[in-house]
Amino acid sequence: MQIINSKKQLTEVLTDARNHKQEIGFVPTMGALHAGHISLITRSIGENDITVCSIFVNPTQFNDPKDFERYPRTIVRDTEMLVNIGCDILFAPLTNEIYPLPETLIFDLGDITTMLEGAYRPGHFNGVASVVKKLFEIVIPDRAYFGLKDYQQFLVIKALTSQYALNVQLTGCDIMREENGLAMSSRNVLLKHQDKLLAAELNKSLLKVKSAFGKTPVNNLAKIGLEHLQNFPEIDVEYFAVVDAENLMSVETPTFPGYIRALLATKIGGVRLIDNMQII
Ligand code: PAJ
Repeated sequence: MQIINSKKQLTEVLTDARNHKQEIGFVPTMGALHAGHISLITRSIGENDITVCSIFVNPTQFNDPKDFERYPRTIVRDTEMLVNIGCDILFAPLTNEIYPLPETLIFDLGDITTMLEGAYRPGHFNGVASVVKKLFEIVIPDRAYFGLKDYQQFLVIKALTSQYALNVQLTGCDIMREENGLAMSSRNVLLKHQDKLLAAELNKSLLKVKSAFGKTPVNNLAKIGLEHLQNFPEIDVEYFAVVDAENLMSVETPTFPGYIRALLATKIGGVRLIDNMQII
């Protein structure tokens, strides 16, 4: 695996690959890799000639500076994992490589950026859009892979590629979970043992909503999920929403051929956790 830190060197290597008609798959990450990330990279390796994984803890998407500081950084272990699965290129730039000047770009990608996560994390999606656009411009991938774990982020990136007519095919990959149902996340290592056990309730609440579908009006589903979580006072729920999966707008009745997704955000022991599930 080639480990590249500079834009210039990455551009040289990838231009050469493109000249040889090689197709490029790209998986942007912030590192602290786990099986969720690995599933994206494996998929890219299967569908492309060259796979680039980037590791960059993007400062502009952290609305809370403390969250940025304590975000896990495990580059040595990450590198080993990438070598073991056969990733071709690790792009691990320093901050001034991505942001030579303080970032001033402001994106307007519509309502999708202001609801749910957008409401609780002001500026978060602007930072995600900034960094993903820059990374796409540097890598120029044929295909890029994102996890549906960050479902709203996937919709925001779809809006970004559509608004800027970026020539990249996006794939949303299934959520990888621990044995107890907890969605894998780099932040899970910050959870105390007890809190990790408790965090299994997030998935359970989503499953409850899924099994209630069809037995209760659609506009009652979010309440069912929320009430499950409220049985656990240590779980601090930010939102529990059951919405149209295309645009995250509220749904009274399922729209055909649309479908419905449940999304939640909580804090447990001060660690912010999100999860979601397709309901139909
Ligand atoms: P990060 O949280 O490192 O996630 C990188 C990619 O892995 C994202 O597409 C995310 O949705 C996916 N992922 C994380 N946990 C997953 C799981 N349990 N199952 C499947 N996929 C999972 O998301 C980001 O980084 C950043 O916002 C980024 C897009 C890199 C921009 O900085």
